[in-house]
Amino acid sequence: MRSTFSTATVMVEPETSALGADARTLPRLLRGASADGAPLALDEHLATHGAVALERRRRRREAPPLIELVERAGLRGRGGAGFPTATKMLAVAAARGRAVVVVNATEGEPASLKDRTLCQLAPHLMLDGAQLAAQSVGADEAIVAVCESASASVEALEMAIDERRGLGGARLRLRTAPPGYVVGQESALVNHLSGRPALPSFTPPLPFEQGVARRPTLVSNAETYAHIALIARHGASWYRALGTAAQPGSALVTLSGPVANPAVYEIEQGASLSELIDAAGGTTAPVRAALLGGYAGSWIDGEYLRGVALSDEHLAPHGATLGAGVIALLSADACPVAETARVARWLAAESSGQCGPCVNGLGALASTVAEIASGDAGGDAVRRVQRLTGLVRRRGACGHPDGAARFVHSALETFAPEFTDHARHGRCEACAAPAELPLPAHPRGVSPRTGRVATR
Ligand SMILES: Cc1cc2nc3c(=O)[nH]c(=O)nc-3n(C[C@H](O)[C@H](O)[C@H](O)COP(=O)(O)O)c2cc1C
Ligand code: SF4
Repeated sequence: MRSTFSTATVMVEPETSALGADARTLPRLLRGASADGAPLALDEHLATHGAVALERRRRRREAPPLIELVERAGLRGRGGAGFPTATKMLAVAAARGRAVVVVNATEGEPASLKDRTLCQLAPHLMLDGAQLAAQSVGADEAIVAVCESASASVEALEMAIDERRGLGGARLRLRTAPPGYVVGQESALVNHLSGRPALPSFTPPLPFEQGVARRPTLVSNAETYAHIALIARHGASWYRALGTAAQPGSALVTLSGPVANPAVYEIEQGASLSELIDAAGGTTAPVRAALLGGYAGSWIDGEYLRGVALSDEHLAPHGATLGAGVIALLSADACPVAETARVARWLAAESSGQCGPCVNGLGALASTVAEIASGDAGGDAVRRVQRLTGLVRRRGACGHPDGAARFVHSALETFAPEFTDHARHGRCEACAAPAELPLPAHPRGVSPRTGRVATR
C-alpha cells in the first residue's frame, strides 16, 4: 500500500492511551490493504482486524448494545447526507416486521471511487458491518447492492461472500443495480431490490418503515457499515480518538484533479486539505477551485483552500460539506463556466423523469448555463439561472433537484467573474487555454490507490 505521508507527529493523548497505541493511527478502514489492489481474503482480514461474534438474529426484546455503541461513537452516514446512523438503526429495530439490511455500494457519483475501493480492497470489513447491523436491528438478511458496471467490486464481493459461508450471521446476498445517478437514492434502490423500476418514490413511507418487500429496511452507505465493524471491535472511545467532536473517526475521500497522485485516501475527519494535497504529491497546475461533496456539492474558491479543514463544521462557513467524500480540484486552465455547463447538463440528463420541476427545471437550468458558456445568452441570463435554482429546490420526490441547484448556485458565486465575462463577451481568460484537467466525469477505469493523512 502506498503511504507517502508520515504520521510520525501524531501523538496518542494521555486520556486515549489506554485504548491502545493504534487508536490514533491511520489507516483504519484500509488497514492491511494490498498494494496490488487485491481484496483482503478472509484469513488476512481476520489477522488484520480480529474476529467478531456474528449471530443469525438478535433474540427478541434483547437490547441492541451495538446501536448504543454506534450512537456514542457519533457515527454519521457516509452516503452524502451525514445522517446519524444510530438513529436510523433504532428506527428499523423498533419497526414492526422482519427487517432487512441494504448496503448501498452503488456509487453513482461520477467523482467518487471510495465505495468501489472499499469493496475491492476490504470487502470483509464492510460485510462484517452489514451482518453486525443486521443482528442489531433484527434482520436475517443483508443485501449488498453494487452497480453492474463495477465489475471488480462485483468480483471481490462474490468471492468474499463465498468465503464467509458457514461463518454464521445474517444471510448475505449480492445484487447488481443498473448504472445511474439517482439509482443510489434510497427509495430508488429499495424499489429496484423489490423488483420495481429503479426510480425514487414519493415518501413516506420511508425505507425504515416499509422498504424492500415492504419490510423495515436499513439502507446505509458501504463505508458506513465498515465503520460499524470497527466500532463493534474497538468501541466508541477508540473510534473518537480520531476526528472532531462533531465528526469523529476517519473517512474515505476521493481526491481528483491536478494533483500528482489522484486517489482514494483515508483521512482523519478534520484533516487539513493542504496536508491531503501534499500527501497526494502536491498540485501539478494552479487550482481555480475545489468541488466538495460531489456533483451535487459546493465549490470553494482556490484562494481559500490552504486554510480548509475537511469536516462539515469547518466547511460550513464555505457553504460546503464533505458529502460523499469527493474533493475534485479544478485547474485554473479549465474554463469553470464550461465545466459548470457540462455538469449541469449531466445532472439534468440524470433526472428520472418523474417530476415536472426536476425534468423541466434542470433542463432549463442546463440550457441557460450552456448559453452563457457559449456566449449566446442575453444580459439577464445569470439572473435567470439564479431564479431557476430557487424554483427547483424542494420540488421533487427526491433530493436530486436540490443537489443540482446547490451545485449551480455555488458555481455562480465562486466563478462570478468568469460568469460575468461569459455573459458579456462569450468567453473568459481560461477559455484561451484548452481545458486540460476538467472534473472527472467517469473515473470508473481508474485503479484505486490508497494513502493516508492525519492532522494534530
Ligand atoms: C440523487 C441521489 C443519489 C444518491 N446516490 C447515493 C449513492 O450512490 N450511494 C449512497 O450511499 N447514497 C446515495 N444517496 C443517498 C441515499 O439516499 C441514502 O441517504 C444513503 O444511502 C444512506 O446511507 P448513509 O446514512 O450511510 O449515508 C443518494 C441520494 C440522492 C438524492
Ligand atoms: S426529483 Fe427528479 S430525480 Fe428525483 S424522482 Fe423526481 S424526477 Fe426523479
